Amino acid sequence: MKSTAHIDPQAPIAPTVLMPGDPLRAKFIAENYLEDAKQFNSVRNMLGFTGTYQGTPVSVMGSGMGIPSISLYAWELIHVFDCKRLIRIGTCGALQEGINLYDVVIAQAACSNSAFMDQYNLPGTYAPIGSYRLIEAVRELAKSKGVTSHVGNILSSDTFYNADPTFNDRWKKMGIMAIEMETAGLYATAAEAGAEALGIFTVSDSIVTGAVTTPAERQTAFTQMMELALSLAGI
Ligand code: HPA
Repeated sequence: MKSTAHIDPQAPIAPTVLMPGDPLRAKFIAENYLEDAKQFNSVRNMLGFTGTYQGTPVSVMGSGMGIPSISLYAWELIHVFDCKRLIRIGTCGALQEGINLYDVVIAQAACSNSAFMDQYNLPGTYAPIGSYRLIEAVRELAKSKGVTSHVGNILSSDTFYNADPTFNDRWKKMGIMAIEMETAGLYATAAEAGAEALGIFTVSDSIVTGAVTTPAERQTAFTQMMELALSLAGI
């Protein structure tokens, strides 16, 4: 089995990988949702597991926080371990009225204030987008389960604490639904390699109203989103 600086697999990795930010979430998913789960990675405690969900092989591995972290893992999973489909599951802060705590946000596209795209040396601005096939499928799944979901543009920010007090409002004015910190890097990395990617989030806080969820509530909402994402492995 091949190995990289950040992933030293002790078990096979499936073509579909779910990527929560927190590696302990990956462990939780493996323990509670996957059958025959085997841990494949522990380098830097970025735990990864492979098992089956409703008969389909699926892996789940932490991504860490921020575009550099998720992008390097995504790059290695796609280029070295031949993974075909990476699905980020995480939390986001809602930036529009009408997007409420616990709603599911599906990133059709991801803007960013990161310099990550500079590496592609494009003669213009690249627009990172999610896999349309996965967006359609997850939207239908959400509807069938009665989960409120929103599809649209998000911001993958390099800053959680931004020094500019006008930052959020300026993005809000452009119709950005929510802010998180990883998806633009994931989308660009997958696009360059011809892989499928999608970012799905639970709203953990509202930047508009200041409302926040408790850790216990976050766990329940996270479960809904995770079940949606796991079902995508089988499509
Ligand atoms: N900003 C950035 N990332 C986030 C937020 C936020 O408000 N909430 C959850 N992830």
